[in-house]
Amino acid sequence: MSRPPYPATAADYRALAHARLPAFLFDYIDGGATDEHTLQANVADWQNVSPRQRVLINVERIDTRTTLAGQACALPLALAPVGLAGMMARRGEVQAARAAEAQQVPFTLSTVGICSVDEVHTATSSPSWFQLYMLRDRGIVRALLEKAWASGCRTLLFTVDLPLPGMRHRDTRHGLNAGGLRPALLRARQVLARPGWLWDVVLRGQPLVFGSLSAQVPDARDLDAFKNWVDSQFDPSVTWADIEWLRGLWPGTLILKGILDTEDARRAVGVGAESLVVSNHGGRQLDGVRSTARKLPEIAQAVGADAEVLVDGGVRSGTDLFRALALGARGVLVGRPWVWALAGAGESGVRALIASWQRELLLAMTLAGVTRVADIGPSHLDPIARCATP
Ligand SMILES: Cc1cc2nc3c(=O)[nH]c(=O)nc-3n(C[C@H](O)[C@H](O)[C@H](O)COP(=O)(O)O)c2cc1C
Repeated sequence: MSRPPYPATAADYRALAHARLPAFLFDYIDGGATDEHTLQANVADWQNVSPRQRVLINVERIDTRTTLAGQACALPLALAPVGLAGMMARRGEVQAARAAEAQQVPFTLSTVGICSVDEVHTATSSPSWFQLYMLRDRGIVRALLEKAWASGCRTLLFTVDLPLPGMRHRDTRHGLNAGGLRPALLRARQVLARPGWLWDVVLRGQPLVFGSLSAQVPDARDLDAFKNWVDSQFDPSVTWADIEWLRGLWPGTLILKGILDTEDARRAVGVGAESLVVSNHGGRQLDGVRSTARKLPEIAQAVGADAEVLVDGGVRSGTDLFRALALGARGVLVGRPWVWALAGAGESGVRALIASWQRELLLAMTLAGVTRVADIGPSHLDPIARCATP
């Protein structure tokens, strides 16, 4: 992959991340479930959605601002939760949260982030969104929620599409699912091939523990011990009754992430979620499920004005953002691109990526002849493309 001296796109940052990260970490971000068909479809299907170009409309004053989950944003974008982001650059979640704050978009801290919610909040003045999975030990869930609330979080993004982790073959090939000496030596060799990363993250980025869970995981410095703990905590018995329990516990805004079906979307509204994220976990769970671009229109229609519909998966540009809004989303979460920018160019990379997407969105709005984000809709898509989308 050639490394552009002046990165302009998500793909450029991906190339920088590839050059910077040990192979097992690059593949951990880049990969998806089994044959990665859904991962590829997530990206490709946005390209089948064509904006409708209009001319000679007064587009002197374009406004990309909106609110997401009640929070004012410079554009309809939030950084999605990504576990282990703090392994991609020194204190990575703090750098990304600072970048998001500077560009006025929300940052979501993963349950399995390296930096704790307190560390992120000490470094920023606007509170992050906090992502959580249902854990078998509900006492830990309750404790994590209380900690997040006490730290100032008011938006809980609860992920519901991970009763079990998907099969990610790239991780298997790097030995991440096998304990013992051989995979450790394999990883050590990859680390030594990336001295810049070793110096930045391992030597200057300590402690590399799972910040929000450090009280719960007995030996979180040991990757294998952590994996065993997480595996023991995934709870395939979770049902809507647990979400009702959660709703009762969390006084702030609740976003359910991982909805890919209209029936589930209506249930989400029924249990009192203010927002939902149409998501297949970035193609990392069940390979073969539809792309989010395909599922978004029917889910947005089923939900109507009863909740905010957000979407993630395969969004790679500000133009994709425009496409998502035209198909009915109120906003977009982005995963891999911000992590590539963080790994490849740190905080300033994440800032530059968001700024570039804002300019692209503005350009798309200008050429589609629509001046306010709230007014973007199906009428801003080419009629042929509209017929092609289910
Ligand atoms: C490396 C990686 C780690 C992720 N970790 C989490 C996580 O901890 N919690 C979560 O809810 N989603 C997680 N996700 C899913 C993202 O939040 C998001 O749904 C997905 O990345 C969107 O697709 P995109 O990467 O194509 O933008 C992760 C995704 C990636 C790529």
